[in-house]
Amino acid sequence: MNRLKVNLDRKLGNSYEIHIGERILDRMGLILAKNNWAERVVVVTDTHIDTLHGERVEAAMKKTGLRVDRITVPPGEAAKEMRTVLSIVEKLIALGADRSTALIALGGGVIGDLTGFTASIYMRGIPVIQVPTTLLAQVDSSVGGKTGVDTGAGKNILGTFYQPKGVFIDLSFLETLPDGQFRSGLAEVIKYGVIETPELLDVIEAAAASGGLRESAFLEKIITTACRIKKGLVELDEWDRGLRRILNFGHTVGHAVEAASAYVLSHGEAVSIGMVAAAILSEELHHLPQDDRRRIVSVIRAVGLPDRIPKNLDLEEIAARMTRDKKKKGETVHFVLLKKLGVPLVNGGIPEKILKKTLEGLHS
Ligand SMILES: NC(=O)c1ccc[n+]([C@@H]2O[C@H](COP(=O)([O-])OP(=O)(O)OC[C@H]3O[C@@H](n4cnc5c(N)ncnc54)[C@H](O)[C@@H]3O)[C@@H](O)[C@H]2O)c1
Repeated sequence: MNRLKVNLDRKLGNSYEIHIGERILDRMGLILAKNNWAERVVVVTDTHIDTLHGERVEAAMKKTGLRVDRITVPPGEAAKEMRTVLSIVEKLIALGADRSTALIALGGGVIGDLTGFTASIYMRGIPVIQVPTTLLAQVDSSVGGKTGVDTGAGKNILGTFYQPKGVFIDLSFLETLPDGQFRSGLAEVIKYGVIETPELLDVIEAAAASGGLRESAFLEKIITTACRIKKGLVELDEWDRGLRRILNFGHTVGHAVEAASAYVLSHGEAVSIGMVAAAILSEELHHLPQDDRRRIVSVIRAVGLPDRIPKNLDLEEIAARMTRDKKKKGETVHFVLLKKLGVPLVNGGIPEKILKKTLEGLHS
């Protein structure tokens, strides 16, 4: 098992540990009991994850003598909204949950954001423990304390910064994760390699070549590396005032492509295409070596993620989605680009002509 400490604001007592390993639920129970964070816990999860893993998690917690209850919500992004928060709150009240209760967020990024948000406002804040079950949540959303729910106006319009008491990453959850979801998470791991630790790309390529992308030793290695990078950025920029922005590498074009596909493309697929676009722009504007760009493309292909914009998507719409909101505010489109692998920079603005040419070159 690996353990990483996230060192944050001491006065606020915001620091916590990330535990990464196979079948660590028993350990989590012991740590919970030992730390006295709460007298009882309520597991918040979605109905799908509950069927697969709910009982096992509840049983592991109960072994330590804690009172455990479970609340389920519907799966999917559509449930990440205020009505679901209120339904969780009503259930917590019915269970008699008070300030001596902790919430356990058992699920992907949706459950993590939703439960973190609820914990941050229920009775002015009760402890939350993140137990991520998707690869994306294990390498990204469970660490860093950003919570949120969507409104009709957009994603994460309401949210808080609320650090968990601990993050417990049990690799065994990934055994039930569908391939598409798994690959989507891999895109974010590739992103960490590109912006910070290029050796990670070698590790991923080797595992892809040997058919070992789902093997525990590989997973433990990439998840630990990813969490170490994320934790480093969170420590430098706890309140997301700028530095964490490099985590958006590939996301400017990615978000636009994802939305233009009406979410048929997964987040990871869209981010992969976005990373290729950012690499081409980096070559054009910042002399990113051609070999570095090729390397990014080859890793993306090796794990079966797309590196081109599907022909059926409308380029005009993608470009418009990127510029629309910014133009309203008189801003230019900001991009995270690369000087070379492992050296990102935030680009103040990209000439529209170059952006258009890049998107056209990727459209097939
Ligand atoms: N807070 C942050 O810093 C941060 C960062 C990145 C993304 N996010 C948020 O994360 C969300 C996306 O998260 P996600 O990609 O994990 O999707 P998700 O939470 O919607 O989970 C995807 C699907 O996988 C299922 N699932 C989860 N674990 C499973 C398992 N082990 N086996 C089988 N099925 C499983 C879920 O039931 C769900 O249907 C978005 O809302 C995004 O805004 C937050």
